Amino acid sequence: MKLKLTNLARSFGEHKALDGVTFEVENCGALVFIGPSGGGKSTLLRILAGLEKPDSGEVQINGERLVFEEQRLQQHRRKIGVVFQGFNLFPHLSAVENIELPLTAVHGHSPAQAREVSMELLRRFQLAAHADKKPAALSGGQKQRIAIARALAVQPQMLLLDEPTSALDPAMTAEVLETIELLKDQGRDFILATHEMGFARKVADQVAFIAEGKLVELGAPGAVFGETALGETRRFLERVLRW
Ligand SMILES: Nc1ncnc2c1ncn2[C@@H]1O[C@H](COP(=O)(O)OP(=O)(O)OP(=O)(O)O)[C@@H](O)[C@H]1O
Ligand SMILES: [Mg+2]
Repeated sequence: MKLKLTNLARSFGEHKALDGVTFEVENCGALVFIGPSGGGKSTLLRILAGLEKPDSGEVQINGERLVFEEQRLQQHRRKIGVVFQGFNLFPHLSAVENIELPLTAVHGHSPAQAREVSMELLRRFQLAAHADKKPAALSGGQKQRIAIARALAVQPQMLLLDEPTSALDPAMTAEVLETIELLKDQGRDFILATHEMGFARKVADQVAFIAEGKLVELGAPGAVFGETALGETRRFLERVLRW
């Protein structure tokens, strides 16, 4: 998948969350956003997901401009899988019903088809035993893996993951990261914002360092995490990798 952003800007009041982000990747692959807290990673992901409108600038996916009008955005959202920081499961639905809902309500699956796809995903994520539990009866890690399963169920053109492991303990984090690695092995395009630097370095085809609303650097992990990285990137990495 090809992605082109041109001069993307978004402010909240006086604060420029995104301050003219421009970049182009011929082949998205595993694109990983890193950078300091408040730098604009989530804002950028929300715009790509069609959940937030930029004040100015342009997004092109596979050469097609994303039009920030409600009807067009609804079409766009159908093609995108999102897993964000919070666990956005519907509390009144069971795990399997959470995965089924977009399939039946938006993607035209019959209830039987949706059940089959959902159970297959739950098995793959080793969550089949929890299929009938409501979110309140699931651990944070389980909820997050169900959110990933739900995002994948609709076979999205692009998967957006915003710190999918931020609320997980180390074992659950490893499990979710292994799942994401599997997605990469399967050749799925995804964009991931993460503070897991080791994982970013390992899994990314390309790393974008984003700080103060700007894209500071975009390159192969070997370059961004290596000796040739720009000063600002290096200072950030030295600080976070110290601990
Ligand atoms: N809905 C909003 N209303 C007001 N300010 C916002 C809103 N969303 C984001 N911001 C501000 O925009 C800036 C960028 O936030 P964003 O969440 O994109 O950063 P981030 O890089 O994802 O940070 P983190 O690594 O902590 O998740 C921050 O200063 C944030 O406070
Ligand atoms: Mg964020």
